[in-house]
Amino acid sequence: MATNEILPPPDQRLAFFRGFLRNPQQVGSVIPSSRFLERRVVQCARVEDAPVVVELGPGTGGTTRALLRAMEPGSTLLCIEINATFATFIQRIPDPRLRVFAGSAEHLGDALAAWKLQQPAAIVSGIPFSTMPVAVARRVLRAAETAMAPGGRFVAYQVRSRVHTLGTEVFGAAAMEVELLNIPPMRIYQWCKANGGRGKAPR
Ligand SMILES: C[S@@+](CC[C@H](N)C(=O)[O-])C[C@H]1O[C@@H](n2cnc3c(N)ncnc32)[C@H](O)[C@@H]1O
Repeated sequence: MATNEILPPPDQRLAFFRGFLRNPQQVGSVIPSSRFLERRVVQCARVEDAPVVVELGPGTGGTTRALLRAMEPGSTLLCIEINATFATFIQRIPDPRLRVFAGSAEHLGDALAAWKLQQPAAIVSGIPFSTMPVAVARRVLRAAETAMAPGGRFVAYQVRSRVHTLGTEVFGAAAMEVELLNIPPMRIYQWCKANGGRGKAPR
């Protein structure tokens, strides 16, 4: 196993760690996701045939690049990042499919409307639900549920389980898997928005 599969590039690690030192609760991790976690999250979200995908909390862009690699040429990836420095990192990724909204994921509906984008078939979230105020976490989850296309997937990777409790209130039952090849090992929760009803755990 190559070390660079677990450890992201040095420039991303440094920028990420600086961001963490400035606002530990908002960034929620000292190091970006490993290549293994990136690939696993992309697989769970099944973005290959999604016309619109949303990423909440792209950080320094490792997960963003992994999503773009898997997405179709004509698709769109909307990234919503609250940290202005990280948002600038994402804006530098040279890909015409990318849109970047610098602000909170609570405003997902406004961001989609600003670019006249259709309902996303997949929403991927790395934002730290366990360290943000519960009211904000609930607003983000409700915004995601409202915005998502029927049959769409919400995928949240987290160390702790608070997103499971809160997400289940909004979407219904979750499926969960664990990626061990990440620092630290990470749980990946998945929900599917049912057509015309309460969500269900993806199979
Ligand atoms: C653990 S990092 C994940 C970064 C990257 N996706 C990865 O996996 O390496 C969490 C990210 O969520 C962002 N974030 C936290 N709260 C947010 C919010 N309310 N809206 C948008 N982004 C948020 C942080 O700034 C940070 O970039």
